[in-house]
Amino acid sequence: MEVRRAPTLLALLLVGLVTACGGGEDAAPGGAGQDGVRLGFSQVGTESAWRLANTRSIEHAATNAGVRLDLRIADGKQENQAAAIREFISADVDVIAFSPVVETGWDTLLQEARDAGIPVIVTDRMVDTTDTSLFVTMLGSDFTAEGRKAGEWLVEHYRDRHGRVRIVEIEGTAGSAPANQRRAGFAEAIKADRDLQVIGSGDGDFTRAQGEQVMAGFLAAHTGIDAVFAHNDDEGLGAVEAIEAAGKRPGTDIKIITVDASRDGLAALAEGRLNYVVECNPLLGSQLMELVGKVTTGQTVPRRVVVDETAFDREAAKAVLHNRQY
Ligand code: AHR
Repeated sequence: MEVRRAPTLLALLLVGLVTACGGGEDAAPGGAGQDGVRLGFSQVGTESAWRLANTRSIEHAATNAGVRLDLRIADGKQENQAAAIREFISADVDVIAFSPVVETGWDTLLQEARDAGIPVIVTDRMVDTTDTSLFVTMLGSDFTAEGRKAGEWLVEHYRDRHGRVRIVEIEGTAGSAPANQRRAGFAEAIKADRDLQVIGSGDGDFTRAQGEQVMAGFLAAHTGIDAVFAHNDDEGLGAVEAIEAAGKRPGTDIKIITVDASRDGLAALAEGRLNYVVECNPLLGSQLMELVGKVTTGQTVPRRVVVDETAFDREAAKAVLHNRQY
């Protein structure tokens, strides 16, 4: 994509000052002043601890880098994101970044941004487009790998068990990249053991309240549930409440695997109420500002920047909990 503005001194400073951090740390140095690069960022919403940490990380890194951030929160609605992005185009910002609520339905909007000569950076969640050149780069996690890690833990955990393992899946927001890709990665991993069977799945919308409700429905509909795969910590923590309300012991009677590794998720894991937590790092702010700096100064950026992530069992959670940032 053609870069529409000549590099400003500020943007050059930005590139020099901001360094990439593998884990998406928030420590972007900077402070380049008011006349900075103008970044319009459309955020999904406020659905989870992960999302709040992601927003804070972007705000913090923008401030440190001297980027003038116009942040819009879409409350989980694609139409709100579309309206925000059109406002960014009208305002003629330097760069647009967004974390798409759902994967599909972005082509027209991305084409409008291209027609206006504004580069777009996709963050956190991938878009499913007919033309991938409509965005310059994508910064975010490998959600398929996250789902796979969750499934591999179950395969290993039930290695010596004979007989069916009944799993329920509390999925993320329908149509979103993390829901689609975590489901796919998980299904791929558990295929290794035919006894592992998903007997129910429901949309937990990445929230604690919805996770609790979906789990309560599963408990009413099925006896003998062995394990839950919740697509994020909030849903898993909601499931914990539903399982306790049903008189069962989460983590003991029913195993629970989640994704994110938020402080609350790791605390529940350390207490034994969750069993395994796959990390999804929301601290993308400094990496995003680095990409913004490169894009506005005509530098080449990779098409895809994947965030390094790990996974936690109980002992690992205990070891990191004291200084968990989110
Ligand atoms: O897109 C990342 C996912 O969205 C996180 O796993 C979840 O917590 C968030 O709401």
